[in-house]
Amino acid sequence: MAKEAVAKGADVLLQAARDKFVATYNRGATAAGAAPGRVNFIGDHVDYCEGYVLPLALPFLTVVVGGPNSSSTCNVLSILASGQELKASFPAPSSAPLTPGEPAWANYVKGVVANFPGVVTGFDAVVVSDVPMGAGLSSSASIEVATFTFLEALTGTKVDPVQKARLCQKAEHEFPGMPCGIMDQYIATMARRHHALLIDCRSLESRQIPVDLGDAVILVTNSNVKHQLTGSEYPQRRAQCQEAADRLGLTSLRGAKLTDLEELRNQKCDKLVVMRAEHVIREIQRTEEVALLLPQKDLHKVGKLLYESHESSSHLMEISCPELDQLVDILRGAPGVYGARMTGGGFGGCVVALVKKDEVENLKRRILAQYKGNPTFFVCQPSDGARVLQV
Ligand code: GLA
Repeated sequence: MAKEAVAKGADVLLQAARDKFVATYNRGATAAGAAPGRVNFIGDHVDYCEGYVLPLALPFLTVVVGGPNSSSTCNVLSILASGQELKASFPAPSSAPLTPGEPAWANYVKGVVANFPGVVTGFDAVVVSDVPMGAGLSSSASIEVATFTFLEALTGTKVDPVQKARLCQKAEHEFPGMPCGIMDQYIATMARRHHALLIDCRSLESRQIPVDLGDAVILVTNSNVKHQLTGSEYPQRRAQCQEAADRLGLTSLRGAKLTDLEELRNQKCDKLVVMRAEHVIREIQRTEEVALLLPQKDLHKVGKLLYESHESSSHLMEISCPELDQLVDILRGAPGVYGARMTGGGFGGCVVALVKKDEVENLKRRILAQYKGNPTFFVCQPSDGARVLQV
């Protein structure tokens, strides 16, 4: 039997978090917020170049519950999927300015508390999540956005959703120190069930794209190679893209055209910078095309673009790894596969594939037989974004 990743659902996670809160703090929680993980269908490493991205939210969620504790300290207990419990305490921002520090995991919560625009006094909280960690499914943004949503419920301060995504992104820059784009926090905030979201990362406007694929589904295979994006690779890609934009006299590569690559070559700029720019320019185009083709159910063309995106991610952006390449190779040419690509930040994590529904089980068997790692699978159910939960 193939290993399936099964989402627990908001009710189960909420109940677990509430029970833990009562057991830990001897009273009931008074506020709760939830936010999902995501899978990016296409458009990777282009959000920080102000490009288009097309993610969808997953049924995997982070839930944060809590209540005020009439002190000037915030206490957070995080329950990992393994059952392990992690604890952290830090001053309420109304009593002392917050700074990043140890334990590292708490920076995702602390950064949001520090950037929340309402008045936050001491609170106790419990965090539970079933978003797979280190899988490129944006467990970090789900913690940030769930924390923010919890704070909205706790303080009564409601924040405009785009502003909320921006503040969570800022929190990730300042506290864990990861110079991410806006995609993950935006989709976690704005996602709608049965839809992918075409996000224009320049204007920060977005359009819901219905995901109604007829006889096809989106199959996600987790390579279970853990990725670590706070290393040097991600910031390097970002810097290389910015160098290309600067050389072209642009604020970002969003404004660049394929003909500009010639200009970069003429300037004798680093070959890697030209490769990154080519990925970004073409990936933005592919993402716009897929957003048009999906509602027309032109799945063959969509699939072709997914494969092209993978090749570009692997050879031009160089963000893939042997395991992701192998998974895409196994899927390429298999019956019932329209297309496949690595998804998210890269260097591990997941492959997303557009496949015929009635071939899913065969495909899983094929991957299990050929893939050298230990994969897990799920079929994507595009889900809702962040929400306040009733406690
Ligand atoms: C990570 C970042 C996002 C985005 C993706 C790659 O998930 O957090 O902002 O850049 O990588 O598309």
